[in-house]
Amino acid sequence: MTSPSSSPTTSPIPPVVPAGRLRDSEQPTLTLSTDAELRPWRPADAQVLVAACQDPDIVHWNRPARVSPNGARDKIAHWHRRWHDEQAAIWAVAGAGGGAAVGLAGIGDMDLRGGSAEFLYWLLPAGRGRGLAVSATVRISRWAVHELGLHRLRLSHSVANPASCRVAERAGFRLEGTMRSALLHADGWHDEHLHARIAGDDWPDPA
Ligand SMILES: CC(C)(COP(=O)(O)OP(=O)(O)OC[C@H]1O[C@@H](n2cnc3c(N)ncnc32)[C@H](O)[C@@H]1OP(=O)(O)O)[C@@H](O)C(=O)NCCC(=O)NCCS
Repeated sequence: MTSPSSSPTTSPIPPVVPAGRLRDSEQPTLTLSTDAELRPWRPADAQVLVAACQDPDIVHWNRPARVSPNGARDKIAHWHRRWHDEQAAIWAVAGAGGGAAVGLAGIGDMDLRGGSAEFLYWLLPAGRGRGLAVSATVRISRWAVHELGLHRLRLSHSVANPASCRVAERAGFRLEGTMRSALLHADGWHDEHLHARIAGDDWPDPA
């Protein structure tokens, strides 16, 4: 039986982000540039997820399970539930004005009480090489820190994935260390870099 002094309602440390901020709001569309935006996933984007789960680089680094078009629609519905359950905020990286999706960026493993979350992203080949992963990571970080109120954002990637390391550096996520044998990929266990930014860290120069 819980004693009154250990009851969560008497905790001396309040939640970093009070519950309800995502649950009671609609997921916003966030502008990246005149050409690109982050918008909520739509059922009509299902084929983009099917393609992502067949792209060799995304399969290798992000390890998604293969999905059928129906499975992809279920996944998109799941991400919308995760927003309202305050567990994750996942956007499509897309052309401006509701254009076609070319990738995914967002935060999962969200802990509103503790004030932290972890980044995830991938781009189909058509979206790569245009700085979209950096701009999406910075834009979502600004939203997560300034609008949602999170304190710490983590980003981890295999040490064998220099493109992802560069995205982290350019988005202002400092390297904090290497986690040994941290994630199992198709070719075995990989060491992972742990990067993070905390509220108050500088924002990268938009150029
Ligand atoms: C990683 C990924 C998201 C990068 O997105 P992107 O928008 O294409 O990134 P860019 O092409 O703008 O490159 C970002 C930086 O990485 C560098 N880079 C790209 N490929 C690289 C490579 N193979 N080796 C070293 N650096 C690389 C670019 O030169 C750029 O740095 P710069 O701005 O200093 O020149 C994208 O390549 C991708 O989805 N890859 C497959 C899946 C994946 O790796 N997911 C991440 C899992 S953690």
